[in-house]
Amino acid sequence: MTNKYMYFIANWKMFGNLNSLNSLHNVNSFFKNFKKKKLIKIIYCPPNTLIRPMSKKLKTSHIEVGAQNCHENESFGPFTGSVNSLMLKNVGAKFVIIGHSENRQAGENNQLINLKIKSALKAGLKIIFCIGETLKEKRKKQTKKILAKQILLGLNKIKDKKNILIAYEPVWSIGTGMIPKSNELFNTVDFIKKKTNNQKVLYGGSVNPKNIHLLKSIVNIDGYLVGGSSQDPKKFIDIIKKTYN
Ligand code: 13P
Repeated sequence: MTNKYMYFIANWKMFGNLNSLNSLHNVNSFFKNFKKKKLIKIIYCPPNTLIRPMSKKLKTSHIEVGAQNCHENESFGPFTGSVNSLMLKNVGAKFVIIGHSENRQAGENNQLINLKIKSALKAGLKIIFCIGETLKEKRKKQTKKILAKQILLGLNKIKDKKNILIAYEPVWSIGTGMIPKSNELFNTVDFIKKKTNNQKVLYGGSVNPKNIHLLKSIVNIDGYLVGGSSQDPKKFIDIIKKTYN
C-alpha cells in the first residue's frame, strides 16, 4: 500500500463530446468520498472543445482540467486551427500536456516543444511534459540518450521548474498493452529524476486496472498519465483505488 501523493491524469486524446461529460459524475462522487483524497490530484485533459463545459461541471470539485497541446505563440495571430495557452487558460485550463509522442510523431521537435513550454508557463499554466523513446531506439539501447536530449532541449533555459511535471511515456507502450519491466522502469524514472533535479515523474503507456498492481510497486513513480482507460470512468476509478489498496 502506498501513502504517497500521486497524480492521476486523464488524457482523452481526440475522444469525447458533450455527452461524455456525464461520466464525470461518477469520478466526482468517488473522489468526494475517497478516504485518501488528500493524497491525490486528478486532472482531466479533454479535447479543447470540452475544456469550458468540463471546467464548469467540475467547478466545485477538486478535479482540475488541462489541455492536450498549445501553440507556441503567446499572443493572438494568424495561425489557422491553433489555440495558444492564454486562450486555454481563459476557458478554464490549469494544465497543458506538451511534447506528447503523438505530436512529436506529427512533426513537433524538441525546440518547438521548448517554446511551447515557455509560453505556457508564462501564461500561468502547469506543464505535463512528455518524453519517451521509440521501440527502435529502445532496441538500440538509446533510451537514456534520447531522454537526456529531450530533457536538455525541451527544458532549455527554463530555470523555474516547479510547475512542470514530467511524464515518461515510452512510445512503444502507448496503446499497445505493453509496459516496461519493473526494474527497467524504476531505473529510467530514477535517471529522469537525476537529470531534472528531482522533478515529479509520472508514467504513461497502457496503464490499466490490470497492470496497476505492478506499476504501483515502482516506488519512484509520482503518478500516471492514462489514455484509453481514462475514457471509462470505472476503469479510471479502479486505477486510483488499486493504487492505494
Ligand atoms: P494509453 O493509456 O492509451 O496507452 O495512452 C497513453 C498516453 O498516450 C497518455 O498520454
